[in-house]
Amino acid sequence: MQLTEEELGMLDGKYGKGTQIAMKIQVALGDVFNAERMVPVSRTHVALSNQEADLWFVEKMVNAGAKCRVSPTVNPGFNLEYFQCITKISKKDEETILRTRKAYKDVGATLTFDCTPYLEKNVPRFGEITAYSESSATPFINSVYGARTNRESAQSALCAAITGRTPLYGFLLDENRKGQVLVDVKAKIKDDFDYQLLGYAVPKKLKFKTPVFVNVPTSPSPAALMNLGAQLNTAGNVPMYHIVGVTPEARTVEDAFQGSDPENVITITEEDLEKVHDEITDPGGKIDFALFGCPHFNIDQVAHVSHLVDQKQLKVKLFIMTSSLTKELAHRMGYLDTLQAAGGDIVDDTCMDQPCWEFLYGKKGVTDSPKCAYYTKRRNMQFVIRNVDECIEAAMRGEI
Ligand code: F3S
Repeated sequence: MQLTEEELGMLDGKYGKGTQIAMKIQVALGDVFNAERMVPVSRTHVALSNQEADLWFVEKMVNAGAKCRVSPTVNPGFNLEYFQCITKISKKDEETILRTRKAYKDVGATLTFDCTPYLEKNVPRFGEITAYSESSATPFINSVYGARTNRESAQSALCAAITGRTPLYGFLLDENRKGQVLVDVKAKIKDDFDYQLLGYAVPKKLKFKTPVFVNVPTSPSPAALMNLGAQLNTAGNVPMYHIVGVTPEARTVEDAFQGSDPENVITITEEDLEKVHDEITDPGGKIDFALFGCPHFNIDQVAHVSHLVDQKQLKVKLFIMTSSLTKELAHRMGYLDTLQAAGGDIVDDTCMDQPCWEFLYGKKGVTDSPKCAYYTKRRNMQFVIRNVDECIEAAMRGEI
């Protein structure tokens, strides 16, 4: 790789051991992907996991004196103080989350602890070169904003935050951003939930390809776009999609394919959505809880649930995961009070794939998120997947 004088200085240790390790990793990555050079990044996001391997790496960087040049926002772990009030948190889990907070603070991260920073704190402009890890973030950055990121790991994104550089390859290059497969959506896409199913159904027919959607509504909500990307990337490693007439690099079909022909054309029918729904949902029955916010709910989604439960009583506990910024806004708007009066709550700084939910292991809940159901299988949590309105009705009845 061709490196600038400053980048060579990083590699030689002129800027400290931590920066040197980060640059070494990035040069190795660049070599693997045949990158010719590095490019500066203006934004970063690290999908910390609050698990041992993640901690090992960030603490290693802190101990080597690393400090981020481009402060990253970070994914949620869990809100220790909240969960200590409602359940028992083991000493080991308490120690891990406290170490995670300290390590990311020390390395110079911005402690947002949310998985949708691209909606409220870390918002790029068109064409900006960034390094985002997190499965709902990378498709949103690439597809909806037309900014550029590869599908980073937490570690490669942290290295980019430390050096302020990333190797130039993959989705940073024009030619790799073109659509590959035309997805003709014959199914009727009625609401945000249908985008979850669409995102899960497409990788059943193609994987590792950039889809170009036609015949979907041309004014999807931010939540719909977030859902689509999160499920595409979870089910099929798809960090970018185009919707003709919606996303900025797809004003027309020709635009989306950069003048080439699609490699393939697939259709998605009602039956495809029903089939994928049947595959991923657990069967109905009595439920013990409702869980939303995977990815973190935005304020409009919180408002919607709050309206649905206003003056009503839930039969099972309901949790909405969101960012602390959105929780504060929900508090100001009165949504938090409404939810709490109905028997629900908003939990900030928290991911569903964390040990703080141990009190729900072995139980059955409702959610609108296939991603939530997918990740929690290993934690022995069962989920009936429905749209938000149906989930709320179920939470009021205690069964579905
Ligand atoms: Fe967010 Fe965790 Fe789901 S990071 S998208 S709540 S798996």
